[in-house]
Amino acid sequence: MSSHYKIDPGGKMTGAIHVPGDKSISHRAIMLGALADGVTEIDGFLNGEDCIATINAFRSLGVTIKGPDDRSHVTVHGVGLYGLKHSPTILDLGNSGTSMRLLSGILAAQPFASVLTGDESLLQRPMQRVTQPLIGMGAKIETTKEGTAPLRIGAVSGLNAIHFEMPIASAQVKSCLLLAGLYANGTTCVTEPAITRDHTGRMLETFACPVRREGNTACIEGRHRLKACSLQIPADISSAAFFMVGASIAPGSDLVIEGVGMNPTRTGVIDILRLMGADIMLTNQRDYGAEPVADIRVRHAPLHGIDIPPALVPLAIDEFPAVFVAAACAEGETVLAGAHELRVKESDRIQVMADGLTRLGINAEPTDDGLRIQSGRFRGGEVNSHGDHRIAMAFSVAALRATAAITVTDCANVATSFPGFAKTARKAGLLIQG
Ligand code: S3P
Repeated sequence: MSSHYKIDPGGKMTGAIHVPGDKSISHRAIMLGALADGVTEIDGFLNGEDCIATINAFRSLGVTIKGPDDRSHVTVHGVGLYGLKHSPTILDLGNSGTSMRLLSGILAAQPFASVLTGDESLLQRPMQRVTQPLIGMGAKIETTKEGTAPLRIGAVSGLNAIHFEMPIASAQVKSCLLLAGLYANGTTCVTEPAITRDHTGRMLETFACPVRREGNTACIEGRHRLKACSLQIPADISSAAFFMVGASIAPGSDLVIEGVGMNPTRTGVIDILRLMGADIMLTNQRDYGAEPVADIRVRHAPLHGIDIPPALVPLAIDEFPAVFVAAACAEGETVLAGAHELRVKESDRIQVMADGLTRLGINAEPTDDGLRIQSGRFRGGEVNSHGDHRIAMAFSVAALRATAAITVTDCANVATSFPGFAKTARKAGLLIQG
């Protein structure tokens, strides 16, 4: 795929589109399917590089996985909780933070050693947030002295249950510890400072493993076997977000995005856009197993700036690049605070978005934990996504309201979460080449 996009200015978003399967849920489906007893069938799997990295890791750990085929179906032949085998190779997780952090919880409990590595971006991301609590459970893990991967995980004969109060709101940390808790003697509990996505808890229950959830605490009983099942994965709301913003900002738009995950721990972007005045309607609401889904209809509406409510930040954490583009088209000022985590995503999303917005003529002032954005007019030009898939897609939809073409560089990583983005975006009405 081309590593840059050129998008002509203008256009509108109309018709009905599908976006690929949910990335977070796809990772978890492979992981739990691999640890289950029996054969798990998955439909709607995200055939993106991040989830393929998870598949390849489990293949190296001795799990037979067929697919994804061209209908996004995957079959996982579970090896049971204690059936993983030592990988003969280092596990390379590419760009995928979710693969590395969740896998480290599983591998920290195994009677064999593993080494986890990744690409340049992943090797810069903080890993002590998972390694420290895992070490507290009795795991043997070494990071670099900066607290980053490669992670060297030693063999152990089991883990001790803990009750961990997470200092940061992170679904990856929560999920890592719940997965490690599957191997602990006793009950492992994780308390988060704010609600984060709960796909792991929901899916564990689908695999017949109870998770007790009370307020911000989730608890799991160690050594509970998982039972294989069939899963239908919803379309990814994080991928749909670019189209929600595109249709909101482009006059004349009326777009339907079908079968999108509506888990309430993920819908912060809808709440934020509605607070800004967006016209978003949910229809055909149904459930795919434990995960609610709906079709989303978005029509153009004049947006206005807001102070983003802090409680919505973890519920929209991956959608801020898109929200910032909406903010640039919203009358007045939009202020985000309390989102320091954005600085340690696939790129420093506060700085990279501020730089790109500024280059395109928007007044965007970064703060330590957020951004202040004034309404403006995108003037066109070249922006660098710094290899961050969500930043590449966010600046692409900005062209709908630009006065000249926008070129986005370093876009190859769009394939980590949204293979076929340019084709789907063209279908919706974006004037995108590449
Ligand atoms: C994810 C959790 C979030 C999110 C990431 C996927 C997950 O990360 O940003 O894209 O699948 O659990 P944090 O848990 O680090 O906030």
